[in-house]
Amino acid sequence: MRIAVYPGSFDPVTNGHLDIIRRAAKLYDRVVVGVLNNASKSPVFTAQERKEMIDSQTKDIENVSCDIFSGLLVDFAKQQKASVIIKGLRTVADFEYEFQMALLNKALDPEFETVFMMTDSKFSYISSSMVKEVAKYHGELDGLVPAEIIDKIRTKF
Ligand code: PNS
Repeated sequence: MRIAVYPGSFDPVTNGHLDIIRRAAKLYDRVVVGVLNNASKSPVFTAQERKEMIDSQTKDIENVSCDIFSGLLVDFAKQQKASVIIKGLRTVADFEYEFQMALLNKALDPEFETVFMMTDSKFSYISSSMVKEVAKYHGELDGLVPAEIIDKIRTKF
């Protein structure tokens, strides 16, 4: 059984994240989306709200589940019996940061492989931070996040 963990803040989950989740689910027997519960990042959504948004958007994908974690990613991955950490890449800037994290995770636990998946070009400019920025100024969120999530974001801003 090949289990992959897809970690992130997902504050909130975007169409880009969901595309990576759907594609990863085709490559692995099970994909566990790991929502980081990190108070120091002052997220807009609670970890539970972020998990619920992911759960509702992935309920049709049988081999995907979502869990909240805190602490080290490698500990969460081990707990989930995963062998792979999935990361999405949009830009070269993403790569530099992600490369460093992959090396650090490898140093922390050499058991895990980090697998990078390229974003679909139509999602390459979307990030949770950009979504929040647009929402803050009441801009159009269509196409950036699923419709049900737009409503939830509107209630926060
Ligand atoms: O969506 P994000 O905020 O870019 O995700 C970052 C995340 C959650 C993948 C990263 O911060 C993480 O793995 N945090 C857990 C703590 C940890 O393991 N740190 C060492 C590796 S960077």
